[in-house]
Amino acid sequence: MSQDTWDDVDRYIDEHLVGADPALDAALEDSTAAGLPPIAVTPAQGKLLYLLARSIGARAILEIGTLGGYSTIWLARAVAPAGSVVTLEADARYAAVASTNIARAGFAELVDVRVGAALDSLPPLAAEQRDPFDLVFIDADKPNTPEYFKAALELTRPGSLIVADNVIRDGAIVDPAERENPYVLGAQRLHELLLDEPRVSATTIQTVGAKGYDGFTLALVN
Ligand code: SAH
Ligand code: DHB
Ligand code: MG
Repeated sequence: MSQDTWDDVDRYIDEHLVGADPALDAALEDSTAAGLPPIAVTPAQGKLLYLLARSIGARAILEIGTLGGYSTIWLARAVAPAGSVVTLEADARYAAVASTNIARAGFAELVDVRVGAALDSLPPLAAEQRDPFDLVFIDADKPNTPEYFKAALELTRPGSLIVADNVIRDGAIVDPAERENPYVLGAQRLHELLLDEPRVSATTIQTVGAKGYDGFTLALVN
């Protein structure tokens, strides 16, 4: 099995289960045109986020790592029309691209794009005393994934779902040669936290697809 096969199968899934989608397609096109890196979730993964959010009846979602707003639009669709999404992005230029994409998708009112390092944006969120988030999608700088997970625990309630992207990275999580890589350390530290965290029940699923071999962690707050 190779990347070519994974690409073909992802295309097949996309054609059959996602299809042409003007708002999402335009979001990706404009992200590419603006020079954003091609690291958004795939259509199949975006739809998984949407289905997870709908499955738990999510109304309030927090995303850490907006990029061009591709995953944000999927999440917004899951909570529309009455819900809300807060999404945190460090890069002001990326956030501007995302805001345009999100507005074109019809979610300018529903999505709150906050510019700044997430570690700075998270404490004010906690201080706002809003209702707990029903779903948190962690998809920003990978070394800080454990910190974002800890913050997510403080911002959620029993029944909330925390999803962390890119935790497998071509199997680097178990590769001794990658022991010093801060990306990998982030994913390992997340799993060490989970080993000893009674507040959640978690699993990690390995994935292949158009974005290579990777995986995500799902943690349900008990
Ligand atoms: N969730 C997006 C992809 C996010 S890519 C999607 O699937 O469509 C990761 C994003 O995290 C990038 O846009 C990057 O600029 C942002 N990021 C990196 N470090 C960050 C930080 N410290 N705080 C907030 N965002 C950060
Ligand atoms: C990177 C970030 C992501 O969120 C992703 O899905 C893939 C790669 C990165 O920073 O390289
Ligand atoms: Mg990701």
